[in-house]
Amino acid sequence: MGIINTHALTAVRRVVPGCVAVLLGLVLLVGSHRFAHAGMPVTTKLMDPHMEITLRRLALPGDRQRADAIVADARRLVAKYADVADAERDGFAKFLPNLKLPQEHFTNDAYAHEAWSGTFDSNHPTSLIYNRTASGLHIVGVMYTASNLATEADLDGKVPMSVGTWHRHVNLCWAPKGTPILPAYFGAHPMFGFNGSIWTRDACDAEGGIFSPIEFGWMIHVWPNEPSQEAIWSIHGEDERHDMVGEHEHHGGMLAVASAGPLPIPLDHLPAAPVRSGDGARGASVFAQNCASCHGAAGRDGPDAPALASRGLSPGQVAFMVRNPHAIDVTSEMPQLPISDQDLADVAAYVSQL
Ligand code: HEC
Repeated sequence: MGIINTHALTAVRRVVPGCVAVLLGLVLLVGSHRFAHAGMPVTTKLMDPHMEITLRRLALPGDRQRADAIVADARRLVAKYADVADAERDGFAKFLPNLKLPQEHFTNDAYAHEAWSGTFDSNHPTSLIYNRTASGLHIVGVMYTASNLATEADLDGKVPMSVGTWHRHVNLCWAPKGTPILPAYFGAHPMFGFNGSIWTRDACDAEGGIFSPIEFGWMIHVWPNEPSQEAIWSIHGEDERHDMVGEHEHHGGMLAVASAGPLPIPLDHLPAAPVRSGDGARGASVFAQNCASCHGAAGRDGPDAPALASRGLSPGQVAFMVRNPHAIDVTSEMPQLPISDQDLADVAAYVSQL
């Protein structure tokens, strides 16, 4: 049941009318824990402390066609189910039927279970997504799902990861029994749940809560009538870069993007671009002017970005990242800097020698 519940939750976490909270809380408590230890190797990053997303990969032959075929099916679905009565007739049921939400998920149990069992059929979305407008429910997208047992190859086989971004809810803390649900999950500063300030096991234990490292399964949205590829495949149908790590204080410390710790984009996941050999000494000043404000002096310690020194980055990888900062991590806060080819070659040489 967890997989079914989560669709509405994704929508709900942005704007939650108070009355939703009680029912939602019950659903959350019932749905948790089942798949908590089923994580498998998929290259991901935390978009925020409670949201894990897959990194993109470079396109392989056939990816574009596969993605376009999915979008074409999604577009047919949103046309077919423009009238919500047609969706209901075909087995899609509104989640939390007694409540009006700004965005509604209509979920098909049979399709959800089919997806959970490993099958991907772009004509069988787990949910149809409707926005509530003045003139009624307006269909905007579809959601496909996969189980947490899926490997990266499995996910890529369903929706090419050069195009789409899978996401799932992680690091959730459920309030101890008897906690009033409304303030705990949906107050101005909730401690628990999808927007909770608690995201570590220790902080959760300290509050007597129940920690859930991975909640529900993988999800991916398609917004087939959006004008651009990025918007069609965006995580929530809006600009991903708005919802960034570091905006919120969290119990157990800020989520570290910075300096220490593994590179956000693992080396084996960061492609190399062709770049001519540059002058590392000149590159030092290019770096000081363009990169050090985030990555720190000599790439050693950045307030807002990972340390780059002694990482084993090749010049080509540096060049790739500078020219295409959002190709692999669509939510990266690294800007696309308009530097010349010569500066690029020099800074790439410099960083690779750090
Ligand atoms: C506004 C801040 C900012 C500036 C300026 C900036 N970066 Fe970055 N950079 C980042 C962030 C944040 C990341 C982490 C990537 C992510 O979030 O996925 C990053 C990642 C990288 C990576 C990949 C590290 C990894 O995770 O594998 C390289 C290489 C890199 N930057 C090089 C540079 C170079 C060279 C410059 C200057 C030409 C530069 N950056 C300028 C913020 C910045």
